[in-house]
Amino acid sequence: MIRVDLRSDTVTHPSPEMRRAMYEAELGDDVYGDDPTVNRLQERAAELLGKEAGLFVSSGTQGNLVSVLAQAQRGDEVLVGDQCHIMNSEAGGTMVLGSVVLFPIKTDEFGFLEPRLIKAAIKPRDYHKPPTRLLAIENTHNASSGRALTPEQMKFMADAGHENGLKVHLDGARIFNAAVALNVPASSLTEHVDSTTFCLSKGLSCPIGSVVVGSKDFIYEADRWRKMLGSGMRQVGVVAAAGLVALDTMIDRLQEDHDDARFMASRMAEMKGISVDPERIQTNIIRFGVPSHKGNEIAARLKDEGVHINGGDSDLRIVAHYGVSRDDYDFAMKALDRVMKAIA
Ligand SMILES: Cc1ncc(COP(=O)(O)O)c(C=O)c1O
Repeated sequence: MIRVDLRSDTVTHPSPEMRRAMYEAELGDDVYGDDPTVNRLQERAAELLGKEAGLFVSSGTQGNLVSVLAQAQRGDEVLVGDQCHIMNSEAGGTMVLGSVVLFPIKTDEFGFLEPRLIKAAIKPRDYHKPPTRLLAIENTHNASSGRALTPEQMKFMADAGHENGLKVHLDGARIFNAAVALNVPASSLTEHVDSTTFCLSKGLSCPIGSVVVGSKDFIYEADRWRKMLGSGMRQVGVVAAAGLVALDTMIDRLQEDHDDARFMASRMAEMKGISVDPERIQTNIIRFGVPSHKGNEIAARLKDEGVHINGGDSDLRIVAHYGVSRDDYDFAMKALDRVMKAIA
């Protein structure tokens, strides 16, 4: 039986307060724009991130998809980090459904895209090239162990795009983790971008949903794409209600996940065969190295011990999240220690 699931913060369940709010939610038909709960969530999200308007979408992937399609047309080029989620983990949706060209830029080890690399990637006006329209950045950066990019770094990247006429989208799936880790308002991380998507169903622990924010004109376009993608949802306030509770109760709580991740990383740093630097853990994601080709075996053995993590070759990930107690983390670390000794 699985006692601790550390695959992702997406495995979180809604809090009792969220379940109550979902049960009691005031509803309307959101395709007509008259679900009051959805409207409240969209307004609240936009306000928190300093933008004019918001749009409730089904997932982070859909948030990124509608944001890209609303700001780049068929045949346009979109600059992305080579390690980003849009590039590597969204089934190529922007390329397939939007017919845009994704151009990957080398990401540094902290998830930052050097402005000089951004500028060098922007194509000159030449009909042999796709016109570069959009830059997409990510914060926290999942593949860089959930590193949080600072407001200054966000500005450097966004300026490199804006100075060259690009729009800038932020995949802020975990933007509140970044804000909490850096102790800054989330709006200081979104101030310089045109659009942001963030997820309710990760560390914020809602069962479903993400919100996209930006200007009113951008949101109109994003909404049109959402409709086309078949995600105009009706009495969806029943889900959005959990989002409102999350924005009130789950943001500050993210610090617990960050502390728990540090706690685990310190334990892991002592284990034979694991390479991890606890000092680099800023938020809730721990990326760690294990001996080549051993990742799947480690994950399988851990599962037998009641701890669920994703497999892989030699780069594995553990994510701290709501609903897991210190005892559970301790249990998971003891199991990992046994497994690492057994495979040595
Ligand atoms: C950085 C980032 N962006 C986007 C997503 C996509 O979110 P969803 O799984 O809700 O589609 C994820 C999911 O883990 C993510 O880590």
